[in-house]
Amino acid sequence: MYRNFKIVPNIIFGRGAFNQLGEILKPKRTPGGCMVFVMDEVFSGKELESRLPLEGGDLLLPVCVRDEPKTKYVDELTAKVKAYTTQPDGVIGIGGGSSMDLAKAVSLMLTNPGSSVEYQGWDLIRNPAVYHVAVPTLSGTGAEISRTAVLTGPEKKLGLNSDYTLFDQVLLDPELTAGVPKDQWFYTGMDCYIHDIESLNGTYLNAFSKAYGEKSLELCHQVFLEEHEDSADRLMMASYFGGMSIAYSQVGACHALSYGLSFVLGTHHGVGCCITFDVLDEIYPEGVKVFREMMARHKVSLPRNLTQGLSEADMDTMVKVSLGMTPLWENCLGKDWQNIMTPARARELFSRM
Ligand SMILES: [Fe+2]
Repeated sequence: MYRNFKIVPNIIFGRGAFNQLGEILKPKRTPGGCMVFVMDEVFSGKELESRLPLEGGDLLLPVCVRDEPKTKYVDELTAKVKAYTTQPDGVIGIGGGSSMDLAKAVSLMLTNPGSSVEYQGWDLIRNPAVYHVAVPTLSGTGAEISRTAVLTGPEKKLGLNSDYTLFDQVLLDPELTAGVPKDQWFYTGMDCYIHDIESLNGTYLNAFSKAYGEKSLELCHQVFLEEHEDSADRLMMASYFGGMSIAYSQVGACHALSYGLSFVLGTHHGVGCCITFDVLDEIYPEGVKVFREMMARHKVSLPRNLTQGLSEADMDTMVKVSLGMTPLWENCLGKDWQNIMTPARARELFSRM
């Protein structure tokens, strides 16, 4: 059976495209209705905030993404929106992967009863979300076009995966990524590079994923190993293509391990993937070699010795969460993956991080 793959229906791309956001939202507005702007709080009081096309009753909801998005936080944000309005006309997520995922999750939880914890998994969402829009200010995660909103819950780190999760509109304006700190730019860009490597080296690979993955990888090489005036534009497209590539295949060992790391230590996705990828020479030899060249070229270093001093219980949880990501391991190592990536081997990899 092939998956009937849903994609984002509307995309606008270009420098200054953000100026058209008001116009894009206009047909979605109802009399007396409002829009909710879920914005990374780093933009509070900044120029971007003053450029938001806010109208009368709109709600600006600055969000804290110091921690990776949690189910509890999603429930709190949803309650805040519900206290403000019965149902907004739309939710606009402005920021990096975490802010976009929060916007997706809130737009879903406004129309689906209960806690977001109940929907962590595949296709558990029953009702379509409120109209929702992505405005990425950071490139690499692919959150702008993925069918998941990754959340950490009390039991697991697992996304709200559904066709309803997909944004209705994506606004790609490379100018918005200008102010990002270098380390964050690099780590998040590497998330995209790793998506490409994991997709292109996976057993789930097909011509669809390959076409997108190869183009995304080519763009990553241009951005991280060459100089180009429009590298922000290229990275934005690499992120989009990388996301499209994994959407019809899967990520692999690096993402599976990074989920375990992040569950226990709260490590952010981009940097977590870099830390994990750096110990995966045996699985992705060429990819890791080039990754290190990129790191050296941009003089970026990685946090080290993260798992030293962790309790046995924490190490066990890390291994358990990671090895629970069956499709990722199967994509990476094939059907026989459990005989290859044993708990002992996963633990040894974690001990080197
Ligand atoms: Fe990722």
